[in-house]
Amino acid sequence: MKKIFLTLLTVTILMACTQSQSKEEAALDHKVDSVLRLMTLDEKIGQMVLYSSDWDVTGPTLKKGYIDDIRNGNCGNIFNAYTAAYTRKLQKVAVEESRMHIPLLFGYDVIHGHKTIFPICLGESTSWDLKAIEKSARVAGSEAAASGINWTFAPMCDISVEPRWGRVSEGAGEDPYLGSKIAAARVRGFQGNDLGDTLTILACVKHFAGYGAPLAGRDYNTVDMSERVFLDTYLPPYKAAIDAGAMSVMTSFNELFGVPASGSHYLLTDILRTKLGFKGFVVTDYTSMNEMVNHGVAANEADAGLLSIKAGVDMDMQGEVYFKYLKKQVQDGLVADKMINDAVRRILRVKFMLGLFRDPYLYCNEAREKRELYSPAHLEAALDVAKKSMVLLKNENHTLPLRKGEKIAVIGELATSTRDLLGSWKAAGDWNFMKSIVDELRAFNGESNVMYSPGCKTNGEDRSGFAAAITTARKADKIVVVMGESADMSGEATSRTSINIPGVQTELLQQLKALNKPIVVVLMNGRPLDLSKETTLATSILEVWFPGTMGGKAITQVLFGEYNPSGKLTMTFPRNLGQVPIYYYEKNTGRPIYIPDPKYKSRYIDSPNDPLFPFGFGLSYTTFAYSDIRLSTKELSDKGELKATVNMTNTGGVTGEEVVQCYVRDLVGSVTRPVKELKGFEKITLKAGENRNVTFTITPDMLAFHRLDMTYGTEPGDYKLFIGGNSRDVKETGFKLVK
Ligand code: GLC
Repeated sequence: MKKIFLTLLTVTILMACTQSQSKEEAALDHKVDSVLRLMTLDEKIGQMVLYSSDWDVTGPTLKKGYIDDIRNGNCGNIFNAYTAAYTRKLQKVAVEESRMHIPLLFGYDVIHGHKTIFPICLGESTSWDLKAIEKSARVAGSEAAASGINWTFAPMCDISVEPRWGRVSEGAGEDPYLGSKIAAARVRGFQGNDLGDTLTILACVKHFAGYGAPLAGRDYNTVDMSERVFLDTYLPPYKAAIDAGAMSVMTSFNELFGVPASGSHYLLTDILRTKLGFKGFVVTDYTSMNEMVNHGVAANEADAGLLSIKAGVDMDMQGEVYFKYLKKQVQDGLVADKMINDAVRRILRVKFMLGLFRDPYLYCNEAREKRELYSPAHLEAALDVAKKSMVLLKNENHTLPLRKGEKIAVIGELATSTRDLLGSWKAAGDWNFMKSIVDELRAFNGESNVMYSPGCKTNGEDRSGFAAAITTARKADKIVVVMGESADMSGEATSRTSINIPGVQTELLQQLKALNKPIVVVLMNGRPLDLSKETTLATSILEVWFPGTMGGKAITQVLFGEYNPSGKLTMTFPRNLGQVPIYYYEKNTGRPIYIPDPKYKSRYIDSPNDPLFPFGFGLSYTTFAYSDIRLSTKELSDKGELKATVNMTNTGGVTGEEVVQCYVRDLVGSVTRPVKELKGFEKITLKAGENRNVTFTITPDMLAFHRLDMTYGTEPGDYKLFIGGNSRDVKETGFKLVK
């Protein structure tokens, strides 16, 4: 009886919630319609326009007179403008001088921090710490919101296996499962539980879709993949961000399936709205609508605008196409009123959700801005994430951690650069506010114990500093060489034909090697690099990416063992560019490398097949042992679950964190299946000598894919299951999926 009562009560509560939610939705729609019905066609189109301010410019064009456009109702949204004072000034024009008084959206690329800058996103992803990543987005969102910004153009959810493409620095690496978890964490961080809160901002899922797979790794280049690869590998992170509640999506520059994303009805309506149920608004990337003329799918900008509005684009970033042509296209009957009304409704709904109609100056509070920017808690969070993002790639003879009091020679231009610590998309990050790596090393280890010489520039052929660097290094116990790429060598429009360390840095490393002293390479970069030479020259290699405002302190604390590095790679590091694209979830092929035939198999005759550092790889100052895997069952039924458990032991002398990873392999499918797919991970902390169980739960839905007939689901059969500290060194077992 009690059970029936409880069930009835639950159902009643659920129905009430659903009704109240639909009541809330209905009330919101009513408010939107009450505004919409008062608007002229010009004013409606004005809401579909987004212009950059001249405060910061992030693309090839800048429109003059945008303040007049706001006043005349011809521009309802601004990006690249911030501070509470400046946004208040522009908001005042919209709210007090335009006819409809509709508040502006203020967008900005708050990618990995606003004022307090966190590691670049690829760096954050190597922390595998979803709470830390969410916290990073939370801090970024609150600092941005305090500076008048209510919309960030993040998270970037583009999967990529292309290290030549400089924008891998903005993403979460090669894996769909990890990329999906990180995308959702970032949306939760930015949007919080209430978009109307003064310290949360609107997230924007970008770049929809498939932007991370440009042919030859050349930015903006053609993307060509099968629908199955798109749906199973590239779509999941976008979906996860939308499922997490993201209320805006940005189209990508590239074509996919032969159509530029900004004009693709398949992507923006069939997939985004129908399949994924997206309810927010769609904005183009910077003039990507206009660029459909260059793509050759529109004869002119008017036709490009027609393609976009019919595909499902609600807002034109910087293109002035909707502003110039849409009204006449409506008047000529080429565009239905409903299309305009639907687009404007989606934009106004978000403005209501942000609380802008309640208080247009909600985000323009200078006192809050002073309190939030660079707050001690934010700087502490940035330090924490920076340390967790660092990956120890090599550490021979326990060269690391350094001992306090050791005499170290620091070599490299990057060691004194604060600008480069911030990486690309540094938003309002201020490198004058920061301390460099050398500053922090000296503060920790004493001025006299830390000598410095630049050696050479990050790029270029100038070797004139070599001799001084070598002289400095001779006086030291250990040499720390800070090398890699400069911040402007990754991010947008920075594709490289080489993934070697630029300039003559490696040549200098070679000459330092001749001193026969331990050499620690601190690597700053925005993409996987070919470290084949450097791994033969360095005793230790610490991957630090571009670690942000607190990067110098974070690097110091890791080098001296105040924090035991715990990062794991989220993109494969190849041995050479010839192997690219190389990623862990490859297919087996008909002639896999391990068959006995000495010749006829899928391999290179001039290079090993395996990567230099595999996906998921990262060392620690301690070591971990994995027991064999115990399964709760050898048969997983289609309504059941399977638990896989290992016992982990910290077999070293210091406390450490380990990212325990769980992969599966579907041995036989109606289509070929990857040799491994990540299906779970857990980052654990163990004291020296401590051990504990780690258990992963596998359910059939986790094994679904697009089958031969393109339906999405599972197929019964044999599976392998792997658990380990990276995608290569794993324990293995097997189970059967039964219908
Ligand atoms: C750029 C980038 C996009 C960014 C936008 C606004 O071209 O592709 O990531 O959000 O313009 O700055």
